[in-house]
Formats: sequence, structure tokens, C-alpha cells
Amino acid sequence: MNIHTYEKVWLIAALLLIVGFIATITYGSVGLGIAMIDDSEETVEPSELDEDFGEPRVEHVGENEYEAYVIAQTFIFQPDPIEVPANSKVTFYVTSRDVIHSFSVVGTNINTMVIPGEVSTMTAEFDESGEYGIICNEYCGSFHHTMEGQLHVVP
Ligand code: CUA
Repeated sequence: MNIHTYEKVWLIAALLLIVGFIATITYGSVGLGIAMIDDSEETVEPSELDEDFGEPRVEHVGENEYEAYVIAQTFIFQPDPIEVPANSKVTFYVTSRDVIHSFSVVGTNINTMVIPGEVSTMTAEFDESGEYGIICNEYCGSFHHTMEGQLHVVP
């Protein structure tokens, strides 16, 4: 091997490393995306939310079990407040009418991106009564910082 051959070997090795790094980053973020938005989840047409998703509401679906259908839009969450009783298990279905928002209940681990066309689903249990603030963590426009709602867990 002469110098020229070594140079080629290292050049190729360096290129492979770069491709490897890019693949890791791309693959990694795709993996994360799948974890956050499950493809098998329900989808809805943002312009037909009223028919497909229905009114923003809380439904009593079983003993101590509730379903909250929440719509995020610039710059509110509906219903507001979301009201559920203490000692309940609540499944949240959250979608957006317009742009990407988030649904983040302060002081809990409920925190999800809300994407038009997708329904984010999560379940939480509330043992005690209390009031929680809901905020939007995704920049969604000039009044993003004012976008907030309330979750009331009532006795
Ligand atoms: Cu909605 Cu920021």
C-alpha cells in the first residue's frame, strides 16, 4: 500500500462514519416520532371535528371512569374548565382544530403534542380534588403564551 491507498481507506472510513451518524440521528428521531404519535391511533379531519370528534366534553363511561374529549385551538382549550370528580380514572382524547399545540397539565405527567388530524390519547388517575393549570408548550402563534385552560378535580 502506498500513501495514496491509505488516504482512500481513511476517506471512506470517515464517510461511513458520517453516514452512520446521520442514520443514527434520522432513525432516532423517527423512532421518537412513532413513540409520540401512534399510527394506529384514531385520526380525524380537522374541518369536520364537530361530526367526527363531537363537542368538547367529559363523558361518564363507567364507575369512576371518564373520557374527556378536548379540542385545542388558537388560543384556547375546550372544554374549559375540564371537570372530573376525585377518585376517577380519566382518559383524555385531545385533538387540534388548527395548528400544532400541546396539552400539558401542570404538576402531572400529562403532556402531549396535539396535532391536527391526530387524536392524542392518555389516561390518568386523580385520587384527590384539586385544580390544575393546562398550558400549551408548542409555539402556535402570537398569543401562544396566553393559551391556557383549567382542569378541576372536584370532591
Ligand atoms: Cu397553542 Cu401554543
